[in-house]
Amino acid sequence: MAYFYEEPSRTFGEYLLVPGYSSAENVPTAVSLKTPLVKYRKGEESCPLQMNIPMISAIMQSVSGDKLAIALARQGGVSFIYGSQSIENEAAMVRRVKSFKAGYVVSDSNLAPTATLHDVLELKARTGHSTIAITADGTPGGKLLGIVASRDYRVNHTPDDACVTTFMTPIEKLVTAPENTSLHDCNNIIWDNKINTLPLVDAEGNLKYIVFRKDYDSHKANVNELLDKNKSYVVGAGINTRDYAQRVPALVEAGVDVLCIDSSEGYSEWQSRTIGWIREHYGDTVKVGAGNVVDAEGFRFLAKAGADFVKIGIGGGSICITRETKGIGRGQATAVIEVAKARDEYFKETGIYVPICSDGGIVHDYHITLALAMGADFVMLGRYFARFDESPTNKVRINGQYMKEYWGEGSNRARNWQRYDLGGSTKLSFEEGVDSYVPYAGPLADGVQTTLYKVKSTMCNCGALSIPELQQKAKLTVVSSTSIVEGGSHDVVLKNATPSIMNG
Ligand code: IMP
Repeated sequence: MAYFYEEPSRTFGEYLLVPGYSSAENVPTAVSLKTPLVKYRKGEESCPLQMNIPMISAIMQSVSGDKLAIALARQGGVSFIYGSQSIENEAAMVRRVKSFKAGYVVSDSNLAPTATLHDVLELKARTGHSTIAITADGTPGGKLLGIVASRDYRVNHTPDDACVTTFMTPIEKLVTAPENTSLHDCNNIIWDNKINTLPLVDAEGNLKYIVFRKDYDSHKANVNELLDKNKSYVVGAGINTRDYAQRVPALVEAGVDVLCIDSSEGYSEWQSRTIGWIREHYGDTVKVGAGNVVDAEGFRFLAKAGADFVKIGIGGGSICITRETKGIGRGQATAVIEVAKARDEYFKETGIYVPICSDGGIVHDYHITLALAMGADFVMLGRYFARFDESPTNKVRINGQYMKEYWGEGSNRARNWQRYDLGGSTKLSFEEGVDSYVPYAGPLADGVQTTLYKVKSTMCNCGALSIPELQQKAKLTVVSSTSIVEGGSHDVVLKNATPSIMNG
């Protein structure tokens, strides 16, 4: 006879945290959100790969490109570049993140000396950047001839067809520095010469990077940024259970720090085969997460198979229609609570701590705190990150409101059939995701910092200064449907009524 769970499965929206005692030391600035990303053994000094914030971005075309990966690593989290693209393109994205040096910018606005003011204005409108490098061949790495900044021309005054060479600051008058100049020295040169930009050139005079005064300042302000031992940003990448023998070596070659098998169903032989192949070829040097599962059995299976972390969640994603189409899944809160218990038991038995990630279904910022309190080591978010400037999708205006596009990996638009692969078909036979819009939310840094300030404040209310302390001290209660109504503003007429759905 089929197995019936005694309790219904629940979502985050059905829980609240009950405050505990908070001492004078419980202030948000004192809270650490450091958390392990991959497994470690009891007694080991520390986890080999930790994050400074408990957030990773979803393995999705509409979320995790290289720009978002850089922005998130700068805040202390990790992006997993989407795997539903060619191996070459995915590896190229990883390479772009790894070769990005915080503070050093590869110029994205370049023109050849034959260009005119008209070209300058057009490029500026397209990129939003006002510093343009004039290189011999118009490429980012060509011989540097000069720089055009806004102060070099007057719109409606300088003729539209004026050649850039007539108004740029020529190389003879520019302050430049050798390509290997340290960021600290670059900053001194910038201050000593009262300039805003410092081009770095190689021995032949080819442009390598530009250091901007404002970027140096923001680099220094990013105390949480997540760097590897070479001071490059940490980045992850999605893989599937089909082409791993080709994809994994290419991603490793590109310098990826951690992989994750991207699948709607993780409790499967395909995942253990994929992890097995990685262990056979790379031992423990290549880190790989697996999932998704929603119960203790699924967790134990993947932990035993050698996963470095395990992802939880089936059917809870904002763009997900798996529960409607296939009738499988589980309330995300219940799934996290059960898997967290299994993780702790596994740790007791084996001395191996396998971090767990709650993936999908985070609607309000406090859901992150709930997931952590319930035992998650970190959360994966799709919709949340899709809203920011740095996500790879278009920003569009709909009914006077700015939106970003956001579509599921199981939608016809993404056609990521490997994610739903059951070994036979090579095409998506039916959709498990939708194509949608989410309200535009500005730069990632602002959004993440606001969210995490809220998380830290709630942790303080629970008397916790770290995630493990929150997990020990948290008191959680299921709320009734009427108390959910009571929790929002009620029985008042709001002056500025804005849609209450889809906030961060
Ligand atoms: P969100 O943060 O609620 O938007 O959920 C994001 C998560 O939904 C991802 O990390 C995936 O686990 C899952 N997901 C992505 N695309 C699809 C889809 O097309 N169908 C079902 N789940 C999806």
